[in-house]
Amino acid sequence: MEMPLKILMLEDNESDAMMIQHQLTKAGINYTYRLMMTREAYEKALLEFEPDLVLSDNAMPQFSASEALAILQQMQIHIPFILVTGTVSEEFAAGIIKAGADDYLLKDRLIRLPNAIEAALKQKQFEKQQLQDQEQLRLSEEKYRTLVEQASDGIFIADETGKFIIVNSSGCKMSGYTLDELQTRTIYDLVEPESLKKIPFNFQEMMMPQGASSHRQMLRKNGQLVHVEINAKFLSDKRFIAFVRDIGERIIAQDEIRQTNEKLRELTAHLINVREEERKRIGREIHDELGQQLTAIKMDVSWIHKKIPSDAYEPIQAKLKNIITLLDGSNQSIRRILSELRPGVLDDNGLIEALEWQNRQFATTTGIAIHFETTEKELKLPEQAATCIFRVYQEALTNIIRHADATRVNTALKKDNGNVVVTIEDNGKGFDTKKRESKKSFGILGIKERVHAQGGELFITSAPGKGTKMEIRLFY
Ligand SMILES: Nc1ncnc2c1ncn2[C@@H]1O[C@H](COP(=O)(O)OP(=O)(O)OP(=O)(O)O)[C@@H](O)[C@H]1O
Ligand SMILES: [Mg+2]
Repeated sequence: MEMPLKILMLEDNESDAMMIQHQLTKAGINYTYRLMMTREAYEKALLEFEPDLVLSDNAMPQFSASEALAILQQMQIHIPFILVTGTVSEEFAAGIIKAGADDYLLKDRLIRLPNAIEAALKQKQFEKQQLQDQEQLRLSEEKYRTLVEQASDGIFIADETGKFIIVNSSGCKMSGYTLDELQTRTIYDLVEPESLKKIPFNFQEMMMPQGASSHRQMLRKNGQLVHVEINAKFLSDKRFIAFVRDIGERIIAQDEIRQTNEKLRELTAHLINVREEERKRIGREIHDELGQQLTAIKMDVSWIHKKIPSDAYEPIQAKLKNIITLLDGSNQSIRRILSELRPGVLDDNGLIEALEWQNRQFATTTGIAIHFETTEKELKLPEQAATCIFRVYQEALTNIIRHADATRVNTALKKDNGNVVVTIEDNGKGFDTKKRESKKSFGILGIKERVHAQGGELFITSAPGKGTKMEIRLFY
């Protein structure tokens, strides 16, 4: 059920009050009321009764309608105030309406009262709504201002000619101008004409819902240029807003990272070469020094063995035989160490034979024969390229032994438009190439670096359960 309308009546004449009530009842208004005559009672009732409406007689013995209206306003109570009076001058009526009363009517025209009440209530409701809307607007403006002001990005709002209207303090700091200075300038004052020719403002894209992003250099007041990232967009009122981020430090950092990476690459390539040279040198020394000496020792010992008469002291015979067996063993060890350091076949017989030799080693260790296809009988490659292919091939086969669980391995070396293409493919368990490599895995990383140092390309195709294929391409 609708709540009864709470009416506060200021009236000293009982029969007038009854007349008013009669009129309200007759109009079917659901209401409840309090009748007051003095200021104290009125003030108390405003707080305790919390009326929806005040109907006030003009002149009571101790109190007047003008005073009652003033009290209502002082207490900031926004309810309709209607003057209901016997006789009143036009002047007084105009005066009290001006002072804020919502309506006035004469007691002998009370028939108009219900309509007057309805109209005044509606008007007050409307005013109240307006006040609330304004407050809402004020709060959201305040929130928006704080956001804009506190943002670490520069925020620039300009009109459709590009003239700045609002710029937050980050924007002022970034550009070096004060807000007043910016408000007399346009977006064109913050870019060099030359760079504007190269990268014009893309107004078309700024009209799109997602706006336009660009990288450019902002021209500061002191002539300095700052690298900035801009996201700009037109607002519905044709003004446009730009969020501007200073990325100078980011660019410097990126540049440093790029340079460091470059240096690391060079260093790695250098270390790979040094290591290869070192292996060659050690190999040569072992071969030339140790190998020669062992051969000489073996010849001498064999000579002694032959010269000793067959009826000589038996334990000496046995010792000499033992020394010869040990020397043969040492020779074999030396050969194995040498081929692990760097297979001589690579330097002596070329890459193809070295790969075939590697295939035989693989078959001996795993029992799996490699199907090796090649279009080349003899391939003349620069030494570093041949070493690169050989080492990559070795690492790929080692990975197959260690991780693949494969039953078949196909490899190939072909020439394609003068490029050398090597593939190594297994039918093993494969792996997810997108997963980050473990911190302790350097095999594939090393392969990448070796291939990169030769200016070549590497492709690895693999997926769990799908085997692995590695392809290297060196350009000539
Ligand atoms: N042929 C393959 N079959 C299945 N998994 C492979 C194959 N080759 C590489 N992987 C996977 O890729 C990972 C990275 O290989 P990578 O050669 O870089 O490192 P690693 O062999 O683990 O260690 P190392 O640094 O000793 O070479 C391996 O740990 C393995 O999980
Ligand atoms: Mg490995």
